[in-house]
Amino acid sequence: MTPIRSNQSLKSIFGITLMAAALGLTACSTSPDTDPDVQARQDSMKNWGDAMGVMGDMAKAPDTFDADVFKEQAAFLAEDASTPWSHFENQESMGNATEAVWTNPEGFTAEAEKFQQVTTDLNAAAQTAASMDDVKPAFGEVGATCKSCHTDFKAETN
Ligand code: HEC
Repeated sequence: MTPIRSNQSLKSIFGITLMAAALGLTACSTSPDTDPDVQARQDSMKNWGDAMGVMGDMAKAPDTFDADVFKEQAAFLAEDASTPWSHFENQESMGNATEAVWTNPEGFTAEAEKFQQVTTDLNAAAQTAASMDDVKPAFGEVGATCKSCHTDFKAETN
């Protein structure tokens, strides 16, 4: 759990959303299945899962390492890493996110920023990688960051 620093003002989009919610300004009848924000962020996450799968297969069988394919996936993650967060503004659009996204916006933002950092690092490592060994630590960091954010901020689904 990331501790909430209560002396820090909410400067993120989440703070604005919380204010809007308190003022009753947010829409309140969106269905989770068709909600465009939930759709957009789940689409991103699914694509990340696919990219991690491609790279993960190489991690499991290092002699199948293909530098060009790995580079492509790593570049995709780094580019898309900033995409989903603006789709978490409206708490009514809960999808499979937990309440913590809105009750601990600073913790969530910190995880999102960490993710952008580790995907940038992975992309950098991939540029010169000749084997899986060259990208393995950075790849591990990315996987750990997916997991660590999901622990607090993604609801258990079966
Ligand atoms: C900063 C937090 C955070 C990070 C980092 C993160 N996720 Fe997620 N992820 C979520 C949340 C929240 C949801 C639930 C979204 C929803 O249902 O609206 C989710 C949902 C998903 C889903 C389910 C999508 C669906 O169709 O319902 C997959 C797959 C997924 N994430 C994969 C990943 C992978 C792979 C990574 C790392 C490469 C990653 N996520 C990184 C927060 C994060």
